Amino acid sequence: MDSLLIKGGVPLHGDVTISGAKNSVLPIMAATLLTSEPCVIRRVPDLSDVSFMAKILTSLGAEVKLADGELRVRAKKIKPVGDYDLIRKMRGSICILGPLLGRLGHAQVSLPGGCVIGTRPIDLHLKGMRDLSATVTVDSGYVHVKAKRLKGADIFLGGRSGPTVLGTGNVMMAAVLADGVTVIESAACEPEVVDLANFLTKMGAQISGAGSPTITITGVKALHGAEHEVIPDRIEAATFAIAAAATDGEITIHGARPDHLSAVIDKLREANVSVERNGTTMKVRRNGRLKPVDITTLPYSGFPTDAQAQMMVLMTLTQGLSIISERIFESRFMHVSELARLGAEISIEGPSAIVKGGRKLSGAPIMASDLRASAALVIAGMAASGSTQVNRIYHLDRGYEKIDEKLRKLGARIKRVEET
Ligand code: EPZ
Repeated sequence: MDSLLIKGGVPLHGDVTISGAKNSVLPIMAATLLTSEPCVIRRVPDLSDVSFMAKILTSLGAEVKLADGELRVRAKKIKPVGDYDLIRKMRGSICILGPLLGRLGHAQVSLPGGCVIGTRPIDLHLKGMRDLSATVTVDSGYVHVKAKRLKGADIFLGGRSGPTVLGTGNVMMAAVLADGVTVIESAACEPEVVDLANFLTKMGAQISGAGSPTITITGVKALHGAEHEVIPDRIEAATFAIAAAATDGEITIHGARPDHLSAVIDKLREANVSVERNGTTMKVRRNGRLKPVDITTLPYSGFPTDAQAQMMVLMTLTQGLSIISERIFESRFMHVSELARLGAEISIEGPSAIVKGGRKLSGAPIMASDLRASAALVIAGMAASGSTQVNRIYHLDRGYEKIDEKLRKLGARIKRVEET
């Protein structure tokens, strides 16, 4: 398994361009299953999760061509059953359930695995399918959904931790070809849900309210092919902005959507980090001494859980106490023990981490555990003195396009060590 070798203490300087959003392109790739006509998706990031999803679409019978950030898919004739092993390995693949059910009237997908950040249930996804008159059974690791005709319904999709992002996308994709009107209450409002709804609308779907807690879908007979450019990855942009502040550098982020990052920008400014927005660019640097801030992760447009670990690193560098509460996932503090190996002082009290910031971090070998924690550890390594080796960075390659290359261009002393 590859690792990253980082020599810390170098402030980041220069320009970086944001890639397409992983959490937008995955459900949009699944949505191409809803039509037999060709679709073209642009600004597709070069990520292992994307190539995985391409393999899944191919295993379902679609023709898939992915090159230079452009994906061409034609799901002319498709099967209702996906490759068990492929689907089991990537949680995001659950979003093929809705389009397969919508297009074919039945689907069989393997239950997605949990991961280090939580059990990742899909009860709300299945509730939505049942409300649309599908029968749902789970046996020997598979979910089977079947419906003669899907019927529009009023569906409440709120769970114990609030709305579900992929669940909202899944139900939306099942409802676009159902008979009648579907109203999803307590829908997720994330920009990635809006991006999916925009793509479905280009395909001929009738959807209103995406981005609000109430989405209305009026079923149509069939969808046609469409072309679409994916929105930029707000979590990648947040990660680079936090890295600039953590290394006391100054960078300009290009091709972003700062309007998707208001909560992160607000917290960075509260921490005394200057963020100058200008259209799709953001200029980030410290504005003097960092200040401790308290953070609670919430559904959009609250502070995103996917930027929690990165922000925690910034707080370990900041004199004073910060409280970081994780309200979306039950165990998303795997990075805490690794940060402690670099000298950070963090204690966990239930859903909150109390960061006693201000100590200098010093480099050590550390282990990545999940996608966003890995990014946080890279930031910590760049901010620490001495050398840090971040192991198991396959997690990182799932969600950040060429992150070591982009960081090197910003002056970071970072190199990928391929395990022999
Ligand atoms: C999406 O996951 C993202 N992944 C996650 O990003 C992100 O952290 C998450 O949304 C929250 O914003 C993709 O889009 C591929 P949820 P998703 O359903 O949709 C509970 C990353 O790092 N829940 O919104 O799977 C669930 O346990 C990844 O890029 C149920 O209880 O998340 C969690 O506590 C990590 N029942 C909460 O809801 C369900 O049926 C939010 O989960 C579904 C979810």
